[in-house]
Amino acid sequence: MVSQHRIYLVAGARPNFMKIAPLWHEFEASVEFVPTIVHTGQHYDYEMSEVFFEELKLPEPDHFLDVGSGTHGHQTGEALVAIEDLLIEARPDMVIVVGDVNSTLAATLAAVKLHRPVAHVEAGLRSFDRSMPEEINRVLTDSVADLLLVSEPSGLENLKAEGVDQDRMHLVGNLMIDSLKSNLDAISHKGTYRKMDLTAKEYGLVTLHRPCNVDSEQALQTIVELLKMGASRRPLVFPIHPRTVKALEKHQMREQVEAIDRLHLTDPLGYFDFVNLMMHASWVMTDSGGIQEETTWLGVPCITLRDNTERPLTVDRGTNILTGLDLEGVKRALAHVAEFDVEKYSPPSLWDGETAGRVADVISSYLREGVAGSDMDGGRKDT
Ligand code: UD1
Repeated sequence: MVSQHRIYLVAGARPNFMKIAPLWHEFEASVEFVPTIVHTGQHYDYEMSEVFFEELKLPEPDHFLDVGSGTHGHQTGEALVAIEDLLIEARPDMVIVVGDVNSTLAATLAAVKLHRPVAHVEAGLRSFDRSMPEEINRVLTDSVADLLLVSEPSGLENLKAEGVDQDRMHLVGNLMIDSLKSNLDAISHKGTYRKMDLTAKEYGLVTLHRPCNVDSEQALQTIVELLKMGASRRPLVFPIHPRTVKALEKHQMREQVEAIDRLHLTDPLGYFDFVNLMMHASWVMTDSGGIQEETTWLGVPCITLRDNTERPLTVDRGTNILTGLDLEGVKRALAHVAEFDVEKYSPPSLWDGETAGRVADVISSYLREGVAGSDMDGGRKDT
């Protein structure tokens, strides 16, 4: 009998969970693989973590590392040590990391130094803005991961420009869309927007958490102006990220935001509730990476309060407009989104809900070709 491949799936923060879920289900259903979930604990609140496991029908993590919050060095370092301990013991055949958070980089570093093969899902994305912690995580992860699994064509171009070997990279599509598509019925049945007394396509949805948008008082003041302007046009729903709550409290601006008329502030929402609000929104205003992609698949206009994006396909498709943190830019974008015609729209072709299967195929061939042995030194292609 052929031995099963032991695959460690690492997740740490909210946007990771909807990326590991389709992979876990794919591997669990296959006789070829045995998946194990490692949760670093970077995000730990119920609404930032556990609710996603429940809704995405993931089992409790096999390993919870309880890394928690802290400075970048502290958080990444804690995760690195904890994952290393685990991998020394477990010696999986493959470690899969997703996205660009501190846990992604920590797991990659731990694994490659133990000569465990690493596959990076969402490889090649580049904002070319090295002031973003995520950009540093992306560049470093891609430079040492063995398999680079890419979600959109720009990823391939970026990796080529960085001199990466063609055989390390594979365009597989977007795992996040697998989760979205497979849960669409359950999401629709939630009726979240109706329960909030909102009318479909007559409200805006806002999320903000990037350090550059929320950590300084000046940026927060612009945010308050944006919220006032947005809410003067339509009711707005704003589920607040813990980082943003902290920043508003630090600068004594929370009450000012709470006082804005027609602004519905909520705690962070579960996946189903949030996507339900997103799919029925007139437009979304955000600085998230994943939401730029989800709106592109749903055909919902997205105004991104950043000067750049590592996901240029979302702009090319016409759903996403980059405005930076700029009141006049957002006003222009709002005029533009009013003309967006969803009837003439189709999502990117490889964002089809079948990405997990393609990832499994790539990993299966990689492991079957024997490039990843089971001993500590023989595991890497380049050793
Ligand atoms: C992290 C990721 C970011 C991702 C975001 C999604 C990095 C560098 N950043 O940013 O790419 O878009 O997650 O949310 O990895 N906190 C809680 N409860 C939690 C988790 C965090 O209250 O469950 C608070 C902590 O006090 C912490 C702050 O939120 O100080 C920020 O959390 P952290 O994980 O450091 O970064 P995010 O801003 O969430």
